[in-house]
Amino acid sequence: MVAALIAAALGLARVRPGGAQPVSFRRNVQPLFDAKCTSCHPVAYPYLDLRHGHAYHQLVGVVSPLSPAFERVLPGRPELSYLLTHVPDPSRRHLLSGAERRLLARWIEQGAKDN
Ligand code: HEC
Repeated sequence: MVAALIAAALGLARVRPGGAQPVSFRRNVQPLFDAKCTSCHPVAYPYLDLRHGHAYHQLVGVVSPLSPAFERVLPGRPELSYLLTHVPDPSRRHLLSGAERRLLARWIEQGAKDN
């Protein structure tokens, strides 16, 4: 019973593998960072550089200095990836739409490939 509840809760954060379109880091993810994130990363917050050619290697498997229990992106586990779990300050809460967050979650779910 408890195990089933936990599985159901995790299932919410995960993506059904069947229907999901493959996500490309280069074509889908990096353009999102270019449009919405690189004005501050690395300028306002130099510990994270989300520019083309830097972002992938600063995210995947890299421990967050703000929250060392988490990796910024843990391949296969969007619900444990700091990129998606860290709560931005209120001025930035609506920076990413729901669809954009789901795109990032799908990319991580599919193994966070450098594709
Ligand atoms: C207005 C400036 C600004 C913008 C735009 C911005 N950030 Fe940030 N971000 C910050 C600052 C400052 C911090 C550090 C303090 C904090 O968590 O708020 C931060 C922290 C982070 C962290 C935690 C970094 C760590 O040390 O592990 C992540 C992940 C992150 N931002 C992702 C993003 C993404 C993805 C975008 C684009 C959708 C984005 N940020 C856009 C200013 C910004």
